[in-house]
Amino acid sequence: MATTVLTALGHDWEGSMVQVVDQLPGVTVGRRCVDLADLLAAASAGLGDVALVSADLRGLDRDALAHLRAHGVAVVGASRDGQEAQERHLRQLGVERHVHTGTPREELVDVLTSTTAASAPFVTGAGEPLPGEDPPTAPIVPVTDETPEPQRGRVVAVWGPTGAPGRSTLAVNLASELAGLGQPVVLVDLDTYGASVAQLLSVLDEAPGIAAAARASELGTLDLASLARLAVEVAPRFRVVTGIPTPTRWTEVRSSAVEQVIDLCRSLAAFVVLDCGFGIEDDEELSYDTTAPRRNAATLTALDAADELLLVGAADPVGLQRMVRAVQAVGQVASPTPRPVVNRLRAGSVGPDPRRRVAESMARFAGLEDITFLPDDQAGVDAAVLAGQTLAEAAAGSPLRQAIAALAADLAGVAAPVGEVRGRRRLLRRA
Ligand SMILES: Nc1ncnc2c1ncn2[C@@H]1O[C@H](COP(=O)(O)OP(=O)(O)OP(=O)(O)O)[C@@H](O)[C@H]1O
Ligand SMILES: [Mg+2]
Repeated sequence: MATTVLTALGHDWEGSMVQVVDQLPGVTVGRRCVDLADLLAAASAGLGDVALVSADLRGLDRDALAHLRAHGVAVVGASRDGQEAQERHLRQLGVERHVHTGTPREELVDVLTSTTAASAPFVTGAGEPLPGEDPPTAPIVPVTDETPEPQRGRVVAVWGPTGAPGRSTLAVNLASELAGLGQPVVLVDLDTYGASVAQLLSVLDEAPGIAAAARASELGTLDLASLARLAVEVAPRFRVVTGIPTPTRWTEVRSSAVEQVIDLCRSLAAFVVLDCGFGIEDDEELSYDTTAPRRNAATLTALDAADELLLVGAADPVGLQRMVRAVQAVGQVASPTPRPVVNRLRAGSVGPDPRRRVAESMARFAGLEDITFLPDDQAGVDAAVLAGQTLAEAAAGSPLRQAIAALAADLAGVAAPVGEVRGRRRLLRRA
């Protein structure tokens, strides 16, 4: 069966390229698209197998490429001979196969007929440097004798239902404790409803963070070096990609960009801790426009990428009931089995012997075993939030810090240390 090609190329050389492609054996041109919207519509309508696109196609970004792929359309980059910059740009966007105006006919046939969406997936990381291109010179996390060089970091998503059960408090302090254990960590604030990591850690409001990383990703300029520059180092081995400064900017954080950020973070650190927003409903099913940004895309992408999922719930009747429902809901969108964390444990909200009571009701109603309990510790969190510091810095001996340190040690597979803070943090005070 002939391969149907959709073309979306620079206007001045589109005609000659289409003419060549249309005469190739086993290849037909299904549609000559005038712009990106035309191409996306043709792909959605199932009009082609392969999209032949050039880097100068206005608006072409990772999201658009992900859309094509989602509709089973493979992407091949096309450029004019001698336009290496165009090919480089497409490679940065994750397009791996390329042809030129001077590519011999047999090779064109081979590339166009052998490329399928499955055989030519987009690479989510930055493309390998092209010959002659400098490799990234990222100020990658320093590696010491006690920290073996990280290969691919583990992704720990911290998620929980609505009601502020303590996702950010746990994410920030878990990241800090992992770093204290000698594990390089990147903490990424992906909460598009109420980002708070920057404030909790006194990082400058102006820090570019996830919005800048997403923009660079969409434009195809995000690589390990640029991500390392965006990830502020707040303490030794502890980097932070701050969240969006205001929830109205949620449309800027798209799924394909988050996917690339997480993928690159895996190369930057041994642990990638993700502070997620509470929403996990997939509104794509409601809006028929599949190219529209999705409100919960960042969290859904995080849950999809997670190796570990910490499900945080609040230790009170409302919080626990939400947690029971959340176990079912999150099971539909995340692959790891959630590890339940019940936060703010206290007798006042659930009755005497709260640990036993909560464990019993979680086992009965949600089938959850092995719950990690975090104590209610107003004094500890107040001291940390007031100072804009981690618990390890502001309240090292607090019960909450000790419980999170034990959880971090368990995740890192080491014995739990409790004591003095290792390596004080450089404070970047807000103006
Ligand atoms: N163990 C704890 N003891 C006492 N207070 C806590 C504890 N954990 C969290 N808190 C407090 O509860 C509030 C909510 O915590 P946090 O911001 O971490 O929740 P969240 O789930 O990230 O909420 P949001 O929906 O706003 O993102 C904060 O004021 C925090 O200081
Ligand atoms: Mg939060």
